[in-house]
Amino acid sequence: MIRLSAPDIGEEELQGIKSVLDSGWLVQGNMVREFEAKAADYLNVPFAVAVSSGTAALHLALLALGLGSGDEVVVPDFTFPATANTVEICGAKTVLCDIAMDTYCMDTNLLEKCITEKTRAILPVHEFGHSADMDPIMKLAENYGLFVIEDAACAFGAEYKGRKAGTIGDIGCFSFHPRKAITTGEGGMAVTSDPVLAKKLRQLRNHGMAESETGKAFVSAGLNYRMTDLQGAMGIAQISKVEKIIRKRRELGEEYNQLLGGQEELTIPTCKPFCRHIYQTYHVLLNEYTDRDGLIRLLRQRGIETNMGAYALDRQPYYKEKYGLSGDGYGNADRAFERGLALPLHTGLCEKDIKTVASELLGMIRR
Ligand SMILES: Cc1ncc(COP(=O)(O)O)c(C=O)c1O
Repeated sequence: MIRLSAPDIGEEELQGIKSVLDSGWLVQGNMVREFEAKAADYLNVPFAVAVSSGTAALHLALLALGLGSGDEVVVPDFTFPATANTVEICGAKTVLCDIAMDTYCMDTNLLEKCITEKTRAILPVHEFGHSADMDPIMKLAENYGLFVIEDAACAFGAEYKGRKAGTIGDIGCFSFHPRKAITTGEGGMAVTSDPVLAKKLRQLRNHGMAESETGKAFVSAGLNYRMTDLQGAMGIAQISKVEKIIRKRRELGEEYNQLLGGQEELTIPTCKPFCRHIYQTYHVLLNEYTDRDGLIRLLRQRGIETNMGAYALDRQPYYKEKYGLSGDGYGNADRAFERGLALPLHTGLCEKDIKTVASELLGMIRR
């Protein structure tokens, strides 16, 4: 089976985890602190707060910025539902913005129309490891006095104009789920340049507890979103090879581009000049004549695992019903939701595997 994705785990991860088990200290501790320091250094951002998942990072980001009832947050319509679910869980209102087809990220030309007097934040997603176009987003945020939370769950190591995705807005959120470029099993991180926000994020992740010379005190309501030291040890091992992983992913992505580019049956992903794409997902768009779900089944029979890419939120029952959405205005997200296909891409694959996937795929859609 050529798997859709597989984590890049080696001896370093095993040794790291063993050392934590041997130490007897399993919860958040030195390993998490070291992972945070290494991530902050790699991303070139002052503060990194490790948490239990990307969803937890998004939830804490919204809470730290004080977003809740009566507030609106603009979210791209095409994403994993966690992006908007966390907005809803905070009691704020999700306002969906359609995507640009060339990046699968928020269409910044449509963004201003989504802003009302209740808007407090913009929540762009760096979809599939391609950075959103941050300059127009930051400009609008500045003009309207809005926060920017970057959902960089899929984009650890991706860049926008030479800056790491996730480090441009007020808070950036990463996921270390096994499908991401680097993984801690489950895990996430919120990063910021603002010391006050960093302090709030740390408190909120740990029951609202503040530590000072005089002791511990619970200064706000909070959650347990801590990362364990087992995960921290894995993160340290993973981050030491992140550039190697990204290099390989980019090579494999480029190989697909060569083999699948220029075919009328599908559209390959673009990489804008402003971006360093990490190909967290290699996502192609099939034409309207291809039965995507049937193709997924046929490819599986041939030993190739593929999947749909991401979800159009306007088509999910919760969002559709709550906001009375009829589908109008979300044509691009809907098209990507219906016709998107994620192809196998991970460091365990070689050029030959990519060639096999490309030729099986083209053979099937031409049949
Ligand atoms: C865009 C996006 N945001 C948020 C998440 C949530 O991350 P996690 O699974 O670590 O909670 C995901 C997960 O796939 C994602 O793709």
